[in-house]
Amino acid sequence: MNVLILGSGGRENAFAWKLSQSKNINKLFIAPGNAGTSIFGTNVAISTTDFTAIKKTVLEHDINMVIVGPEDPLVKGIHDFFLADAGLKNIPVIGPQKNGAQLEGSKDFSKQFMIRHHIPTARYRTFDKESLNEGLKFLETLHPPFVLKADGLAGGKGVVIPNTLEAAKIELTDMLSNAKFGNASSKVVIEEFLKGIELSVFILTDGNSYKILPSAKDYKRIGEGDIGLNTGGMGAISPVPFADEAFIKKVEDRIIIPTLNGLKQDGIDYKGFIFIGLMNNNGEPAVIEYNVRMGDPETEVVIPRIKSDLLELFEGVANGNLNLKTLELDNRFATAIMLVAGGYPEEYEKGNIIKGLDLVEDGIAFQAGTKLNSENNIITDGGRVIAVTSFGQTMDEALKKAFLNAERIQYKDKFYRKDIGADLKAYFIESTGKPM
Ligand code: AMP
Ligand code: GLY
Repeated sequence: MNVLILGSGGRENAFAWKLSQSKNINKLFIAPGNAGTSIFGTNVAISTTDFTAIKKTVLEHDINMVIVGPEDPLVKGIHDFFLADAGLKNIPVIGPQKNGAQLEGSKDFSKQFMIRHHIPTARYRTFDKESLNEGLKFLETLHPPFVLKADGLAGGKGVVIPNTLEAAKIELTDMLSNAKFGNASSKVVIEEFLKGIELSVFILTDGNSYKILPSAKDYKRIGEGDIGLNTGGMGAISPVPFADEAFIKKVEDRIIIPTLNGLKQDGIDYKGFIFIGLMNNNGEPAVIEYNVRMGDPETEVVIPRIKSDLLELFEGVANGNLNLKTLELDNRFATAIMLVAGGYPEEYEKGNIIKGLDLVEDGIAFQAGTKLNSENNIITDGGRVIAVTSFGQTMDEALKKAFLNAERIQYKDKFYRKDIGADLKAYFIESTGKPM
């Protein structure tokens, strides 16, 4: 099979790495890809939302399947575009159609969906410009901190959690009246703050059956100790030590099954990944958000733990027989450390030469914001530059190897968080009284 992956991050590099090992893979293309993906396939310099260029690429290279990495093309309807085109409609797209992608594309839609299908989530109300005054009054009925979410896609920046009522009122006004996040904040979801520890669970579904993929935890803040600005993710760990069988069973019964039944009841044919962001409050899961794709850097720890042929699983999704496929997992821990450009997520430099990738031992360097320059050097080309993943029988062993590799890779102003996993260790000790 010839496969096209859409996207250019560490996530797409992990997909390319894994799919290149599939027994049925013939040619692999990545659009637009990065310097790392070009090791496993051919990069095509087109945008993930340029549907006409994607069509041309698919026909030119005789592509048999398209895997969509990021949410943008899904929310904009890439899958619907394929289904509506006589020449493309038989080429499977892994990722939901526009209606399913609303689970991520609109916070209001996803909250309504959860309430309608009795899926545990924080209490909420949605406001627009006209109902700003009601929103301000609603804030007065809540306890701090306050959770305000721009309804639409805002590049991962649309959630704001002010600590005081005054700040929350200013924020709400800014989002609704001053279009702080543009059109994305024309509606704002205000919800109750959930206490607990976060984790994510991922499923792959053909619309009927599903496979539960390994759980993962990511680290969103730039600073050690979870402080500072939000990023795309600074590291990830899989499995999450507290997400034991009993917890995952609760997630399956209370969240996964009702979500899939809900999609069916609502007439949404969903083929692809569902990324369920969860809060674990004393063993009780509640949904924080749905994403309609895999996470980044969660993919860099989840995909390496899948032993089965990923293309076969995707074929199961495409053909509606995922139930006949097996999902075999590696029981070891996988940890990813994200190396970023100094200054990220604010201003940062691009174009610095990356050295030491050949020194990585007992681990995989999944490139993200990288490209090749005219002299064929790998240079930095984004805020998140490389995710280094390592395995271990224990989380500590995996982390030790990943941190060693993080040191081996060199470029100007490299930064990474040295406390990835520290919260999980502390949580484990606190909740069990035993060292991890
Ligand atoms: P989201 O984009 O919905 O994942 O939100 C971004 C981050 O905000 C989440 O990863 C949580 O850390 C936090 N968050 C969102 N909703 C809530 C909530 N209801 N209670 C507590 N934290 C939240
Ligand atoms: N790492 C979080 C995300 O991919 O949304």
